[in-house]
Amino acid sequence: MEKKYLFSPGPTMLPPEVLLKMAEPIMHHREPEFEKIFDEIREGLKYLFQTKNEVLIFTSSGTGAMEGAVSNLLSKGDKALVVRGGKFGERWGEICKAYGIEFIPVDVEWGRAVDPEKIQEILKSNPSIRAVYTQASETSTGVKHPVKEIAEIVKKFENTLIVVDAITGIGVFNIPMDEWGLDVVVSGSQKALMLPPGLAFAALSDKAWKFVERSDLPKYYFNFKKELKSAQKNQSSYTPAISLFVGLRETLNMIRKEGLEGVFRRHEKLAAATRAAVKALGLELYAPDSPSNAVTAVKIPEGIDGERLKDLFFEKFGITVAEGQDRAKGKIIRIAHLGYYERLDVVMVISALEMLLKEMGYNFELGKGVKAAEEILMT
Ligand SMILES: Cc1ncc(COP(=O)(O)O)c(C=O)c1O
Repeated sequence: MEKKYLFSPGPTMLPPEVLLKMAEPIMHHREPEFEKIFDEIREGLKYLFQTKNEVLIFTSSGTGAMEGAVSNLLSKGDKALVVRGGKFGERWGEICKAYGIEFIPVDVEWGRAVDPEKIQEILKSNPSIRAVYTQASETSTGVKHPVKEIAEIVKKFENTLIVVDAITGIGVFNIPMDEWGLDVVVSGSQKALMLPPGLAFAALSDKAWKFVERSDLPKYYFNFKKELKSAQKNQSSYTPAISLFVGLRETLNMIRKEGLEGVFRRHEKLAAATRAAVKALGLELYAPDSPSNAVTAVKIPEGIDGERLKDLFFEKFGITVAEGQDRAKGKIIRIAHLGYYERLDVVMVISALEMLLKEMGYNFELGKGVKAAEEILMT
């Protein structure tokens, strides 16, 4: 018998009741029934993003909202600052480049969080920077960046925005958009929102909307102003991923029922248990100083073939974990715990890790990782 489990940081496992809802016959998106769903979703997203402003929804993967957060905010000749501590930080730079936006990179060693002081220095000496692009959680390295501290710095610069890719942050740990003064927060459906890929989200502060007003970069599908007008009428500008909207209403209700505090606490516990477990096995964390609660990046020990380990997870147990990307390829595996995950999911994936490492000749005492996880999961 074969069972499959996703422990990749997107797509993630989905609640069966949500899958069933999405399997219902499709409705038309200009019908009152859909508008009602849209209306509920708008409220649910505001709760999730912790903002009073509209959260825009696009039918695309998360990168669509990232692209929109460049093309709708900036204008020709504007400069940007990009935090580059992994693959997704690099993506901000690539999007800027595609739109002809010159950017100053703040290159961060992979596995480390950015030092906000560096951002402050650059902003002080480059008053033409209009936006600071960063991740809340850099999924490729398992790092959590200090978004609150960065926001405090950017706030001092009247003509500069802080734009946060919270694709693996929203619904995982606390990112109170309005309270922290974040100007743009983007996310996607296939992570903590417990949905298939296909929806991207972007929320904007009042300050960011002013930038939208003057932005002259080319845009068509990802047009924030147009989408805002549509959303206010419980409509999307173009045909939305209707079934995903139906699922989104369900998952937002689940989140509301658990409460944000509960959701964050659960992720904190799952992440802490995973980290404790791998450490108990004598493994090292790739992001020891500032780990994200979305995904745990683990260094592959000496003598173990990382790619083989990842393949064996799937071959032997039907488990998908993520390998390292780019310069981290073969050096790490990434075990996700964001979204529809509970305590025993951690026990299972750690148990599988132990069995595989044992088979591959890594020396440790079986059960030590599971024990360390259980000790945290029982608290
Ligand atoms: C932090 C982060 N940013 C951006 C993306 C890109 O999102 P998508 O693949 O949905 O376009 C991902 C996806 O893994 C991510 O984790």
